[in-house]
Amino acid sequence: MTTASPPAASGAPVQPTPGPGLFISFEGGDGVGKTTQIRILADLLTAADVDHVLTREPGGTELGIEIRRLLLHGGHVAPRAEALLYAADRAHHIATRVRPALERGAVVLADRYLDSSVAYQGAARSLGPQEVRDLSLWATEGLLPDLTVLLDGDPDLAERRTTGRGAKDRLEQEGDAFRVALREQFLTLVQTEPERFVVVDADRPVDQVADDVIEAVVAAVRRHGARLTHGGAHQGVLLGLEAFVEAAARRSAAGSDQESRS
Ligand SMILES: Nc1ncnc2c1ncn2[C@@H]1O[C@H](COP(=O)(O)OP(=O)(O)OP(=O)(O)O)[C@@H](O)[C@H]1O
Ligand SMILES: [Mg+2]
Repeated sequence: MTTASPPAASGAPVQPTPGPGLFISFEGGDGVGKTTQIRILADLLTAADVDHVLTREPGGTELGIEIRRLLLHGGHVAPRAEALLYAADRAHHIATRVRPALERGAVVLADRYLDSSVAYQGAARSLGPQEVRDLSLWATEGLLPDLTVLLDGDPDLAERRTTGRGAKDRLEQEGDAFRVALREQFLTLVQTEPERFVVVDADRPVDQVADDVIEAVVAAVRRHGARLTHGGAHQGVLLGLEAFVEAAARRSAAGSDQESRS
């Protein structure tokens, strides 16, 4: 967990989180491949026997599932009510699932986190991005991820991948201008916190995208490992993360084997 900059402008300081866990969020527009990439990563963590938790926002808890239902299928929601519902989901989710997991040393993979709120609610609606960020930081007592993977692709990409998936939810029904603004907003967030983000070109085959995602996670694991070692404790967590790095290297070697044979 980082004490990342920039600090919120008003009354919501970013706090260091106790605990040896590693918090990774995945961001990007609808259909860019977040869930696909999280599954690949989760399989590697499972193979390495690393304690990990998959969560998604909105809807990572029982209360969150109810909030998600209200948000995505409940008709018009006033912008401030929408921002507060997302923040309520997040507050509960972080307090009851994410912090406990981080405190015991797990890797938490979040399918969307506060950057989605800032990008969706802040940029494309009437609320300011800083207000929305402050609200989220208040809700989470300042928790920011150690790493945020932004899956970035042309707005058309999501359109191509999500057509044919059946009824569109409310956010998916937004138009092209919205998707363009959303992408820009995500990229602006990267500029304000370049040390937290890694941008991955999502418009490539799944395995190629996964190579870059895994590389970013391995780098984050190494940074995290260095910090933990410095602290002198958490041997179990470190061993698990080492096993993950080895599993990632085996995957990468298997991939280049296949390439050289084809
Ligand atoms: N790199 C890729 N190339 C081609 N198809 C992909 C790729 N990644 C994902 N897909 C496919 O695109 C669709 C959307 O992927 P996925 O569900 O992972 O996206 P998502 O970002 O989680 O979407 P949402 O925001 O709606 O949850 C799925 O059918 C998936 O199989
Ligand atoms: Mg998804």
